[in-house]
Amino acid sequence: MTLTLVGKALHDSHEYGPGQGWDADPRSRGAYLTDARIAVMAWDPTFGACRVCGSPTRLIADLGEVPLANCFETDAPRFPLRVEMCDDCVLPQLEETVDPHLMFDDYPYQSSQSRTFVEAARELVSRQDVQPDDFVVEIGSNDGYLLRHYDCHVLGVDPSNVTSDVPTLRAFFDADVAHSICVTRGPAKIIHANNVIAHCPDPHTVFAGIKNLLDSDGYALIESPYPGHLVDQWDTIYHEHVFYWTYTAIARAAAKHGLVVTDAEPIAMHGGSLRYRLAHQGVPLDLGEHLDIDGLTRRLMVEPEALAKKVSELQRAGKVVCGYGAAAKGSVLLSVSGIDLEFVCDTTPTKVGKVMPGTTIPIVPTSDLFRADVAVLLAWNFRDEILERESWWAGEWLMPHEVTG
Ligand code: TYD
Ligand code: ZN
Repeated sequence: MTLTLVGKALHDSHEYGPGQGWDADPRSRGAYLTDARIAVMAWDPTFGACRVCGSPTRLIADLGEVPLANCFETDAPRFPLRVEMCDDCVLPQLEETVDPHLMFDDYPYQSSQSRTFVEAARELVSRQDVQPDDFVVEIGSNDGYLLRHYDCHVLGVDPSNVTSDVPTLRAFFDADVAHSICVTRGPAKIIHANNVIAHCPDPHTVFAGIKNLLDSDGYALIESPYPGHLVDQWDTIYHEHVFYWTYTAIARAAAKHGLVVTDAEPIAMHGGSLRYRLAHQGVPLDLGEHLDIDGLTRRLMVEPEALAKKVSELQRAGKVVCGYGAAAKGSVLLSVSGIDLEFVCDTTPTKVGKVMPGTTIPIVPTSDLFRADVAVLLAWNFRDEILERESWWAGEWLMPHEVTG
């Protein structure tokens, strides 16, 4: 049997009902591996298999040993950050994934810190036709930034300790959790999942859960950054993002669980996302896709170095260079480019007073921006909002993906 067939056979033999999630593999330092991957790795340790379809994958990017991007400590644990590509699903994915409890149990991210997020959530909710008796669930509900806009029964599902102002079940959403919600609360008319499926190492249990929980005429709205821009957004590659979902991959994973993708609406969030609509039945969309993987490889070879050169030139000229936005993507950018900054400004109370992951760079309130001559906009996805908020500042903004070598 060829390696491909071993992977596929194991994958296809897997059942994705409640209680059937993939388990942690003790051989991989807290990393999660699929059955298919473990089997294939036994044949050849450099060989990967797609977590959605079991096909062999190829290595497309190696960002080195990178600290966990939301662990704001100098000794944040480091793990290899390597991306593999499944050409069958058009799905970039991490080679090795870190134990989700390590990343999400104590999570400093608060969605309501961004006006852009809250306004987009309010607008999205206003477009849904719900009655007071309807039931809406959000997977990865964080601080309730979205569900709080609904006038009906809501339930958030989120594993983190973030304080929420809506009823929240503290759990990783999976087929078991979906089953128990369905039994105790009944099926959901709408299931939201914004910026969360990229974070789930076992997507099959999530899709199985959605299938189980969704009312017969209900629908799921799933937002996920579109990796068409991965070439110039390589800093969005980090351990939390196991998958860089494309339409083809979502449609394939959904179909395995009897769900149909009936719409994919482009939205501006996170530098370009798609909002997928999934239902039990409907006319499936048919989209062709191509990702510029060679472009990503080329960009990674030149951009981090060009940025480091630019920052050290400024520092040699006596400029105080800071970062703006202690975003996870900022942490990746610092780690891969090796640049050192005086400090990083951020509005999030739970981040201020800490340090950028794996460094001694302090995170300070945004009022400290006056001390800098130049600010690297680490949270470039909120460019308009941040430039407007800080329009009082006379310094120079440096856009990390616009520096050319
Ligand atoms: P974000 O880009 O949402 O996240 P990540 O890369 O972690 O997924 O993070 C944006 C960070 O920027 C977040 O820590 C809040 C901060 N921020 C500001 O400091 N000022 C602002 O005006 C905005 C919008 C965000
Ligand atoms: Zn695949």
